[in-house]
Amino acid sequence: MRARLRLGLRLALLAGVMAALFAVDTATNYEVAAAVFYAMVVLNAAPFLGRRALIRLSAFCVALTVLSFALTPKGNMPIGLANMGVSIAAIVMTAWLILKMDAARQAAQDAHAKLVRIARIKSLEGLTTSIAHEINQPLAAIVTSGNACGHWLAHDPPNLDRARQALDRIVRDAGRASAIVARVRSLTRGEPPSRTVFAFNDAVGEVVGVSRGEIERHGIELVLDLAPDLPAVRADRVQVQQVIGNLLLNAIEAIAAGPARARTIHMVSEVAGGMVGLSIRDSGIGIPAGIRDHLFEAFWTTKEDGMGIGLSISRTLVEANGGEISAEPVETGGATFRFTVPAVQQEKS
Ligand SMILES: Nc1ncnc2c1ncn2[C@@H]1O[C@H](COP(=O)(O)OP(=O)(O)OP(=O)(O)O)[C@@H](O)[C@H]1O
Ligand SMILES: [Mg+2]
Repeated sequence: MRARLRLGLRLALLAGVMAALFAVDTATNYEVAAAVFYAMVVLNAAPFLGRRALIRLSAFCVALTVLSFALTPKGNMPIGLANMGVSIAAIVMTAWLILKMDAARQAAQDAHAKLVRIARIKSLEGLTTSIAHEINQPLAAIVTSGNACGHWLAHDPPNLDRARQALDRIVRDAGRASAIVARVRSLTRGEPPSRTVFAFNDAVGEVVGVSRGEIERHGIELVLDLAPDLPAVRADRVQVQQVIGNLLLNAIEAIAAGPARARTIHMVSEVAGGMVGLSIRDSGIGIPAGIRDHLFEAFWTTKEDGMGIGLSISRTLVEANGGEISAEPVETGGATFRFTVPAVQQEKS
């Protein structure tokens, strides 16, 4: 209601100014080019008039200019004609510039809207890629357990206890896959991690359990050196397990890509400075100096079938949980990846 009132007042004001301009332009000599101020009227009316209305207003101003000229009774006629030309040119030019500016602004708005749409599509693509990457491990584990389950059922006599254990693993890994999908989705929506207090070593142990088959398949010896007296951590358990899974998979792939000499993965958990850390050291192909800066970049990979997002997702997850992640080459060959998450401060007794 107020906006309408304000618009009405403005239009009335402009109409008043136009009437005054018309009166002055008509009453004064040809030499006084009052009509040139119609350009100001057009300029001031532009913000609250549409394209068509602005063109009509400009045409009306031009008509008033010509009418004033026709009605002006005295003065130097050639100068009057020239002044009329200048005034009309000023009105037309002003209107044309405004329309041009408007079109440019509209184009900029369209381009921006398009960009936002493209960004959304891109992030959707990123979301799909991330989900596909992150649920690969639990899905592979489900297939392995499924095969095992079939094997124990086909056994003569069927080993129902083993079959049930395999089924339990399937249910657990399916739950993990669905939790990961939920976490990746909430991450791309910018939601904070859902932190809980949990035992770090247990979370490590579960991921190791899921990856055990892959580790054995590559003839890798896994050494677990988990500190027994670790404080609990406060972080998103599913996300921490995603990170461990990614680092472990990279370690396995780094060893598989190298010559078959020492094949070991060493996992060490420890506490330092209010943070609990996990190092994963492998005897794989290592990190040449030139590539160290790129490791955590999204879509940067040296693998033929790699997506190059495991480490970039891991860094996002670790940082979202208040920790840090780093990579170091190992002098004797191989690499160490280390990340931290906040420990729960223990009550002093
Ligand atoms: N343990 C490691 N040893 C040596 N190089 C590594 C190790 N981990 C990662 N890298 C290097 O970092 C790159 C990026 O790793 P990242 O996990 O982000 O992607 P990826 O493993 O190539 O593909 P994916 O997206 O499928 O995980 C790898 O291609 C590899 O060159
Ligand atoms: Mg990887």
